Amino acid sequence: MHFDQQLKIKQQMINARLSELLDEAKINNIIYEPMKYSVDAGGKRIRPILTLSITEALNGNTKDALDFGCAIEFIHTYSLIHDDLPAMDNDDYRRGKLTNHKVFGEAIAILAGDALLNFAFEVLSQKLIESNNLLYIKAVNEIVKASGARGMVAGQAIDIISENKKLNLEELYNMHRLKTGAIIEAACVAGAYISNREDILESIREFSRNLGVAFQIVDDILDFTGDEKKLGKSVGKDKEANKATYVTILGIEEAKKRAKEYTDRAIEIASNIDKSGFLSKLTEYLLVREN
Ligand code: IPE
Ligand code: IPE
Ligand code: MG
Ligand code: MG
Ligand code: MG
Repeated sequence: MHFDQQLKIKQQMINARLSELLDEAKINNIIYEPMKYSVDAGGKRIRPILTLSITEALNGNTKDALDFGCAIEFIHTYSLIHDDLPAMDNDDYRRGKLTNHKVFGEAIAILAGDALLNFAFEVLSQKLIESNNLLYIKAVNEIVKASGARGMVAGQAIDIISENKKLNLEELYNMHRLKTGAIIEAACVAGAYISNREDILESIREFSRNLGVAFQIVDDILDFTGDEKKLGKSVGKDKEANKATYVTILGIEEAKKRAKEYTDRAIEIASNIDKSGFLSKLTEYLLVREN
């Protein structure tokens, strides 16, 4: 099967499960509607695809991987809702639609984000109750750490305080690893835990670290060169806000070069993890993506 087709099948599977899980949470319509609005707006579903494809490659339980991946996607979606708020990046469009706060107001958008974060842990803790498996507990621990003050939240804080500042390369790399890399790493590591493959954790981490940084560099590049219609979000915002990014600091050509270097390294490792070739193709696609 062609890569595009494989990707689409995975996305459809993830979308169906996200809806199913969210429907179970339909407790309170006031908050359910804005939660569903941002989840249903779409997105590439890269993080659950990573959990799923690594679990497939390692012969783990893909049904469980799907739920872990969906929980990570709820966390990611919450991070986007908050990232778009006026107090943060102040964006009007996300995933081709108006941002959550533009539709529901800032207070409800903050709460919808909070609710998605907590819902993710409802889904994950449910998996722990069902499985009673220490490795699943380790996977959840990894996801909690990656989402908070050791990971994404810390990276977002660095991003905000670095506006109008010139970071050095090490600081820039560190920010990207935290704000975007940490959750990508957790999505991959979860796949290894679900598959009972602690023995290859280090190579999974190395793959995902290279991929995570490449992914955010490409995001920085697309903010400069991307097409708003294809991206589903506004472009030119990083320059306008004087953000510290690979493009604002190194320039577009050097940013492209670095994205390719990190991608090449990730592909080298991916080919050893996944003999089917899907993970390598996914990594390559994330470098050349237009959204
Ligand atoms: C956007 O993430 C924010 C970053 C961490 C770069 P994605 O590019 O994965 O966004 P969606 O989920 O496809 O909308
Ligand atoms: C956001 O980075 C990373 C998150 C943790 C949400 P950006 O602010 O560059 O993401 P976009 O460009 O708005 O999607
Ligand atoms: Mg941001
Ligand atoms: Mg942003
Ligand atoms: Mg960006």
